[in-house]
Amino acid sequence: MHRKFALIVITLLSLSACSNDEVEVDNYDSARDYFTFANTDQFVTEHLALDLTADFDAEELRGFAMLTMRRLDGAATEVILDTRDLTITSVAVLQSGNSLSADFRSGEAHDSLGTPLFISVPSDIGEQFDLMIEYNTSPKSTALQWLPPELTAGGKHPLMFSQSQAVHARSWVPLQDTPAIRITYEATVRTPESLLAVMSANNDPLTPRTGEYHFDMPQPIPSYLLAISVGNLYFAPLGEDTGVYTEPELLDASVYEFADTQAMLELAEKMYGPYEWGRYDLLVLPPSFPYGGMENPRLSFITPSLLAGDRSLVSVIAHELAHSWSGNLVTNATWRDGWLNEGMTSYFESRLMEVIYDVKRVDEERVLMYRELLLDLEEVPEHMQALAPRLDDTTSEDFQGGIHYSKGQLFLEYLEKAFGREAFDEFLTSYFKEFAFGTITTEQFLDYLEANLLSQEGSPVTREQAEQWTYQPGLPEGTPIPQSENLDSAEALAIAWAEEKVDLAEIPFAEYSPQAKIHFINSLPADLAFEKLAELDEGLGLSETQNAEIGRTWFIQVATRRYTDAYEHMEVHLSRFGRGRLIAPVYRALAMNGEDLELASEIFARARGAYHPLTAAWIEGGLNRAAN
Ligand code: BES
Ligand code: ZN
Repeated sequence: MHRKFALIVITLLSLSACSNDEVEVDNYDSARDYFTFANTDQFVTEHLALDLTADFDAEELRGFAMLTMRRLDGAATEVILDTRDLTITSVAVLQSGNSLSADFRSGEAHDSLGTPLFISVPSDIGEQFDLMIEYNTSPKSTALQWLPPELTAGGKHPLMFSQSQAVHARSWVPLQDTPAIRITYEATVRTPESLLAVMSANNDPLTPRTGEYHFDMPQPIPSYLLAISVGNLYFAPLGEDTGVYTEPELLDASVYEFADTQAMLELAEKMYGPYEWGRYDLLVLPPSFPYGGMENPRLSFITPSLLAGDRSLVSVIAHELAHSWSGNLVTNATWRDGWLNEGMTSYFESRLMEVIYDVKRVDEERVLMYRELLLDLEEVPEHMQALAPRLDDTTSEDFQGGIHYSKGQLFLEYLEKAFGREAFDEFLTSYFKEFAFGTITTEQFLDYLEANLLSQEGSPVTREQAEQWTYQPGLPEGTPIPQSENLDSAEALAIAWAEEKVDLAEIPFAEYSPQAKIHFINSLPADLAFEKLAELDEGLGLSETQNAEIGRTWFIQVATRRYTDAYEHMEVHLSRFGRGRLIAPVYRALAMNGEDLELASEIFARARGAYHPLTAAWIEGGLNRAAN
């Protein structure tokens, strides 16, 4: 089908998908990636060689990308690549030592997908050839943030980092930006002399700081795992195969906080098979990093908001590490199958945390996750509540809230409960082995599940039941509901205290985990008097907490209840953190409380300079929606 025509059909499909009774329309191509322009049925990239200079003054990367291509369709003469805000200077086709300049043109820009780049290749080009593309990025690159020294921990050197997932790799490299294909890569990166470059590749902790760095990534990865950072970065080991890169000012705190990383890695291997990537390091970034963590292979990118001083937020590390199997080794074929990455990883994360810490702590985290899922289900439209919903090119990146994480995790816990932990672990181990370095769809997962578990005689789960999880909204019957005695008790005490039946001093907060405090705060009745909020704030030091998740919970309540005594501290929270999860819901609560939309916009105007452009756009979208 002609591409433009296909896009129109998809747009129509998306409109019809909004009405419930049309969800069954059946010409939906579930294996198709609606977020790329690349014609991967005709050409696929096998290897990428980058030679880039990081220019902090111009805020751009500049240089060459050489793509080693394989032609799958002998009649095809046009390669289509994804780009976004890139300036393409020249394109050459290379084959057996010959270089031919190639005709190329950019297509029309699409709001969220960027701009297709059409490159003509000779009809007799043969099966394999290279494309040499000379280009530079724009300061507007949606993947790259160029931080001035003031926005770093040290305050003296600039720092740049990338965030490619889901569709932003194309804003720093012209390529086929789809998880459906995998590439190996190598890179030369030139930087100002005092700075260090790191990538999602074979970083050498002992590399001399020369301003020219070489990388190799011999394992094939999907494009969203391409990653780079340049800054005043130093390394400290955490264990034999693990370590952390960050600015020197954060190095000691990071080593303390993430001390369990090596143990997590060893445990994960015992559970689900060999770690296929060599080293596992962390990169702790400045506060504007938009996520909690990003599973860039060999080098997870991490928010500094995890540095609580008590290791209470390290489930994010377990999560990013777990992606080394679920996501990086076995990859969702398209973003519609995102639950295979995120749901399976959330399940795996909990399993790691149970052993490294204890079941009680993980049950607390499960209950918090379940509570957030119920809130998400109230807001996410039904057709987006399936684990594998119907997507199209108009779907935004946060199309499911957190549903593919939490509902995905519950689906796997449901299967675990039905088949027993041992059998289910065996299943997952063989799943990772079977699909290693591959990309798979929800349907392939279901087929594999059926062949290995569901088709057993007397199987407690039918394919139909499994498909209810993947294709239907809400939570199926038999959903395992997380339980935690600790949180039940925190909830009961929150209500009793609100009703003046117990004193604050009688509540054993000293023994509470951060998760229990969060649940306590979330369990307070809506009409609680401000004197009580003040008593709680003072008693627990909530407005000045060092724990970013407690702060998040508290300031959502502060904004929802218009507890103005804590507004100054709330603004400190909103300017201190840039991780979307920590701030966007606070802005939203402010904007929705009926009085403070303007204040929310004012605070945002003051703070946005320090935010990542993706986070800023997310918050701005929320404020605009609240205004209309
Ligand atoms: N891969 C995700 C981050 C992501 C998802 C980036 C979708 C872009 C698009 C990462 O592994 C993740 O899930 N991070 C979470 C961690 C949490 C669930 C433990 C986050 O940032 O909050
Ligand atoms: Zn994840």
